[in-house]
Amino acid sequence: MAVGQRGSGAAGQDGDIGAVGAAADFLRARLGRVPEVGVVLGSGLGRLATRLEGAIRIPYAGIPHFPATTVQGHEGELVCGTLGGKPLLVQSGRFHLYEGHAASTVAMPVRVMAELGIGTLILTNAAGGVRRTFSRGALMMLADHVNLTFRNPLIGPLLQGEERFPDMSGPYDAGLRSLAREVARDRGIALEEGVYLQLLGPTYETPAEVRMAERLGADAVGMSTAVEVIAARARGLRCLAFSTITNAAAGITGERLSHAEVMEVAARVAGDLERLVEGVVTGLS
Ligand code: HPA
Repeated sequence: MAVGQRGSGAAGQDGDIGAVGAAADFLRARLGRVPEVGVVLGSGLGRLATRLEGAIRIPYAGIPHFPATTVQGHEGELVCGTLGGKPLLVQSGRFHLYEGHAASTVAMPVRVMAELGIGTLILTNAAGGVRRTFSRGALMMLADHVNLTFRNPLIGPLLQGEERFPDMSGPYDAGLRSLAREVARDRGIALEEGVYLQLLGPTYETPAEVRMAERLGADAVGMSTAVEVIAARARGLRCLAFSTITNAAAGITGERLSHAEVMEVAARVAGDLERLVEGVVTGLS
């Protein structure tokens, strides 16, 4: 059994079709409406969940096969409500590989959202800036990613509704990205674009690892998102993702990195990210 998993006895492993189906059935019975958009909130960005109208909050502890989250700043609940008139399901608190979870567990909430009928997925994260011109607090939309975790949530038996060999040539939807650029322009939000590289963590990188990331074409490094986007693409979800650049990656300025600072900066610039996500959700056709 994966770390932190509560076995309900109803189905098998977290990521298998029985677990996904059982969690989706449980949620469907409680939500009373079909959410159109899923949002995965990253470190220090939980406030968006409090802005939903008519919110129903469902703690992970009550959902079959959902593990408990263990990281400070990552609340564990799904929140369903409307934002800009659109029915949304927000994942507040994610599962990370560094907590000991399997990639299939990390991706399980995304699979459950797909099972519930969501067509669009918006993900946020905190990341270290590799591109030297990024300042602290910058917002970066993901143009592409490098999954350098050597983990993949699709490994194992093919799940119903998923492709065995999903195309990953456009992981982040071109139409959604152009909508996000438009929203950013209209609302006066500075929005960078770049490549995100996911590592396992939980250590922050060494300066040599950051130079490696730079040579691999990364503009930002973090410990989430790519693995979830892989599962989302296997289910045909349109994806859009944003990084808050909370710090210069190791070795770039010589400053030491701390989780407290990551959380503080993420919370400080969360307002712009919320306005951006809200604008995108409202503008979705
Ligand atoms: N590296 C990895 N993950 C992070 C960082 C970083 O510098 N900052 C915030 N999340």
